[in-house]
Amino acid sequence: MFTIFKDSPMSFQRLRLWIGPLAWVIFFSWATVAAEPPNSVAYPDKGAGGKGKGADKNFVADRDTFHFLLTNHKSIQRSVKKIDNGVVTITESENPEVAQKIQEHVRAMYERLKSGKGLRYWDPLFGEVFKHGKKMKMEIVNTEKGVKVTETSDDAEVVKIIQAHADVVTQFVEKGFDEAHKEHPLPSSSSKK
Ligand code: HEM
Repeated sequence: MFTIFKDSPMSFQRLRLWIGPLAWVIFFSWATVAAEPPNSVAYPDKGAGGKGKGADKNFVADRDTFHFLLTNHKSIQRSVKKIDNGVVTITESENPEVAQKIQEHVRAMYERLKSGKGLRYWDPLFGEVFKHGKKMKMEIVNTEKGVKVTETSDDAEVVKIIQAHADVVTQFVEKGFDEAHKEHPLPSSSSKK
């Protein structure tokens, strides 16, 4: 290799000019890949991504929405009525932007229940919610300031999961991110079917 340069010192000079920029290009390409944030799938919703059912193109948008709700939790009001086969909930906000995000969130989560593309699998209760999503019926009615949701199931064990989840949403509304960082246990008699 050096014989080339011995006979043509100009080529060696030119190569020296290229080495610096070339090194930077290689370094930046590597740094970009290495610094890429772990796929949205990884944190904080470890295991999101539909558990092997292909890329989760809605994950980032859905996460941004529930982060927005957690950030604005103080402007949300919620009531939960437990009925024999589930819950009737009303979740609203005086802030129109928050009200709209609540509506978006519930519809997005409904789609996830039906498609099985879950999230937050690191939290036992949420894993269970998505395991049984297809056995849940959700009637969503937009109110002027949010949503009224009637969520039911014919399966008594799933009813317990629905009710436990509704309590957790109430905790999210009361405590925001402080609650969202915690794990939530399965309802006591919920089997691991
Ligand atoms: C202040 C924050 C939040 C609000 C106001 C909110 C609101 C709601 C509402 C109104 C429902 C319909 C069922 C019900 O009313 O019980 C719902 C369902 C759901 N939410 Fe949220 N949510 C919040 C945070 C979160 C977070 C942080 C997650 C997960 C990362 C999440 C995941 C879900 C899922 C999976 C469902 C469908 C499961 C089911 O209803 O059984 N939510 N949410």
